[in-house]
Amino acid sequence: MEEKGISQAVISRLPRYYRYLGELKDEGVERISSQELSELMNVTASQIRQDFNNFGGFGQQGYGYNVNYLYTEIGKILGLDKSHHLVIIGAGNLGQALANYVNFERRGFIVKGVFDINPDLFGKDLRGIKVQPLDNVVEFVKQNNIDIAVLTIPKNGAVDITQQLVKYGVKAILNFAHVDLEVPEGVIVENVHLSDSLMKLSYNINHYKKK
Ligand code: NAI
Repeated sequence: MEEKGISQAVISRLPRYYRYLGELKDEGVERISSQELSELMNVTASQIRQDFNNFGGFGQQGYGYNVNYLYTEIGKILGLDKSHHLVIIGAGNLGQALANYVNFERRGFIVKGVFDINPDLFGKDLRGIKVQPLDNVVEFVKQNNIDIAVLTIPKNGAVDITQQLVKYGVKAILNFAHVDLEVPEGVIVENVHLSDSLMKLSYNINHYKKK
């Protein structure tokens, strides 16, 4: 399947398709037309067809798409047919909430280790994973085939730990720290700033008020 040159906009829509298709599959729906999917997801049918055409169209025949096939293929494109090993750096409110969230595992994201610098947290049990001192992280990453690190720490320290993690094989960072990270080519950073989403909401509230 040719996937070269697919825009990030298309890629960023795939998880939403995957989520809706997963729900349809769980409800026992076997086929769905682009029109029905479009009504369900509130996007145009032509947008759906255009997005899917980037991947060869997923063989829509007669009445619509095969839900299970589409779900499986989009999962493969997203790399969800393989599991990923994660470490969480920072076992505060956010780190603990993420470590306790079971649904990541359903998608193949396995939390293998949680690390912090606060000795009061060492040994704290988060769904069977004990918080470890940050000093252990490099050895842990080397031995456990860790490909993703989630940074739930303040910005001080985030740059240093990122350098260490990528040096020892981490390929992607989910960054909650409020700092831009520089990483070598081939390493991916996904920044999450919940306050940016709130600011977007704020803009839109103001915008619609004026209409
Ligand atoms: P928190 O204070 O509850 O937890 C932070 C934890 O990180 C503490 O346990 C602390 O000991 C640990 N820590 C500090 N420096 C560290 C280092 N270098 N290595 C390992 N552990 C270290 O804070 P919370 O609420 O969990 O938030 C975590 C960070 O994420 C905060 O800095 C906050 O600003 C940021 N944040 C970002 C959001 C976003 O949308 N990007 C949303 C909420 C928080």
